Amino acid sequence: MDKSQIVTKIIGSPKNPVKEKGRAFAPTNIALCKYWGKRNEKINLPLNPSLSISMGDLGTKTVVSMSDKEDQVFLNGEYLDPSNSFTTRLQTYLDLYRPSPNTFFQVHTENNIPTAAGLASSASGFAALVLALNDLFGWNLEQRNLSILARIGSGSASRSIYEGFVTWHAGEREDGMDSYAEPLEVRWPEFRVGTLTLSTEQKKVGSRSGMRLTKETSSLYQGWPDKARFDFNLLQEAITHKDFSQLGRVSEGNALTMHATMIGAWPPLLYWLPESVAHMHKIWELRESGVPVYFTMDAGPNLKLLFLAETQSILEENFPKMKVVVPF
Ligand code: PMV
Repeated sequence: MDKSQIVTKIIGSPKNPVKEKGRAFAPTNIALCKYWGKRNEKINLPLNPSLSISMGDLGTKTVVSMSDKEDQVFLNGEYLDPSNSFTTRLQTYLDLYRPSPNTFFQVHTENNIPTAAGLASSASGFAALVLALNDLFGWNLEQRNLSILARIGSGSASRSIYEGFVTWHAGEREDGMDSYAEPLEVRWPEFRVGTLTLSTEQKKVGSRSGMRLTKETSSLYQGWPDKARFDFNLLQEAITHKDFSQLGRVSEGNALTMHATMIGAWPPLLYWLPESVAHMHKIWELRESGVPVYFTMDAGPNLKLLFLAETQSILEENFPKMKVVVPF
């Protein structure tokens, strides 16, 4: 099954808009149990389930309308050249929703997070676009279907449809209709994520090719899907019981294991900078001195600290550049 068949299954044949502009916001999310490796690259079906936390008001705001001539894409207020890779990626995705081949879209998208710096802006980007299209076309889709449509844009976008803790089921079906995200009921108001942006440079190897390289060349990858499934269950348990040390241990271990599979690839894939490692050591020292703080990292050099409200001030003293996100 290809993307257009999935879209037809969910929305029927493309319709005309029911209003002039569709608007939406979607939060970015940070995985505590990572999605790394696909069983189907065309429609982003993962080899393992994943679990994330949505980042409150950090994310993407998108307004979409129809346009007379060509597609026009604006990123943070700036018109993007049609040859820009961001525009072409968006256009290919929008092809799935055109009422006729000569209808065009105008998309205004605003990120309040650095684009492509390992802070998953594609997740909130595709989720906000799907939600804005749902608004423009009046589809009134269930969230599960919105999550599937976001997933075919970017895997982790399936989770950005929701706030709070979110699970994404890997699913087994070939058409991926059982591979969608769902929110967990638990609210944890004291839970905090601190983002430490060590570099905002565009990464050289994106997640799509990084996953492929790891799956094809790293002998360490073999153990990954089972490890992720195990961590996924432990994390759900930790969240249900609000067991912070279990959540922290499992999340940090999961991120490091994912990075270990990448380092074992050939050519090796190492997203860390010397500063990333220096910050890991600092976190481990703090933890040894009794401060309950853990970290996670995506496909980039930046760290996200995981902690509770009671340790916020001591961590702010130790990491003056850290930005604190309150997810609940
Ligand atoms: O959805 P993508 O293709 O941007 O991949 C996301 C990969 C990680 O951020 C490393 C892990 C995850 O689960 O978000």
